[in-house]
Amino acid sequence: MLQQALAERLLPPLLIMNDRQPCTRDSWPKRRQELLRRLETHIYGVTPPAPDDVESQLLRQDDHDLADKAITRQILLRFATPRGGFSFPYHLFLPKSDRPSPLIVHIAFRPSIPDRYMPVEEIIDNGFALAFFDYQDVAPDLHNGDFSQGLGACYLDAAARPDNAWGRIGQWAFAASRVLDDLLTMPEIDRSRVSVAGHSRLGKTALWCAAQDERFSSVIANNSGFAGAALASRGHGEKVSDFIRCGSSDWFCPRFTSYLGRENELPFDQHDVLALIAPRRICVGSAALDVGADPPSEFLSCLAASDVYRLLGRSGLITPDRFPEPGTVLHEGEIGYHLRPGSHYFSRTDWLAYLAYLRRHEHKN
Ligand code: GCU
Repeated sequence: MLQQALAERLLPPLLIMNDRQPCTRDSWPKRRQELLRRLETHIYGVTPPAPDDVESQLLRQDDHDLADKAITRQILLRFATPRGGFSFPYHLFLPKSDRPSPLIVHIAFRPSIPDRYMPVEEIIDNGFALAFFDYQDVAPDLHNGDFSQGLGACYLDAAARPDNAWGRIGQWAFAASRVLDDLLTMPEIDRSRVSVAGHSRLGKTALWCAAQDERFSSVIANNSGFAGAALASRGHGEKVSDFIRCGSSDWFCPRFTSYLGRENELPFDQHDVLALIAPRRICVGSAALDVGADPPSEFLSCLAASDVYRLLGRSGLITPDRFPEPGTVLHEGEIGYHLRPGSHYFSRTDWLAYLAYLRRHEHKN
């Protein structure tokens, strides 16, 4: 049943190389590069090279936070760009532990603590370090095509953006990698267990970040929908027109808008983004009432990306041959998936599922 549903999407073939040869285990690294170039060119834009050095300045530290269970730090990162220095702050919660902790880098909607999308104490209680930054400290989410402020302006002339110029998602993703640069210098962090997490537009961002940055061992994509986990081709969720209408097409490269009304002609689909993360871990969460994000399309792309996991000797998503009911949690394979009852939200229920998934899989390391 599921293979039939997938076949009806008529997806661009994942495992056929640009020269039409079948992709093998040996040629997967080359195929990976082909897919990365395609995604840069048509949707997210080209990410500039990482800076040689990221400077870190400790702004504040509390050694007795969260009932004395955690050390928290506020840190300012600074790095050189073609147009001068750029800086942004992030927060870090470190559980008090005598061993290095696994880490989650959360690309957050707000700088607030507490925050309704981030149950900090529970994350710490599960043994994870948590870093987060406010996405708008990197690039303001203006919805108006104005790139004269923030990280983008440090790399490109805002008035002359080429068709493949990075959009805001690319910029937020780049920032998550800079946070990781800094965290990987800290002995308190277990560098083999680092995840990047986000909800909605920031779930799209987390996926694009992990697709490019192989230092992330897992990704958490909550209700990420179109341009996130969901297949666009022949789906029932958002369309390119929805992004143009509300100004959020500037999350993408300028070429993205040329696919208005032509989603079925995109030369890639979102299973390609998930595939770039293989054989690392992916945990996708959908919400049953989140019609914009199109849960069946989020689920099917996990299934489609599993072909690469199998090519690499893993399993990807492990599921019975039917669409999940609300309340379903599928955590057996390297690709985890859950369908939560309720609407679009980064809920505590989602976090508990992701923490359970990470604990289950990371102990296999
Ligand atoms: C809009 C957008 C979605 C996105 C969401 C969000 O609704 O169209 O694609 O996921 O914002 O980020 O909250």
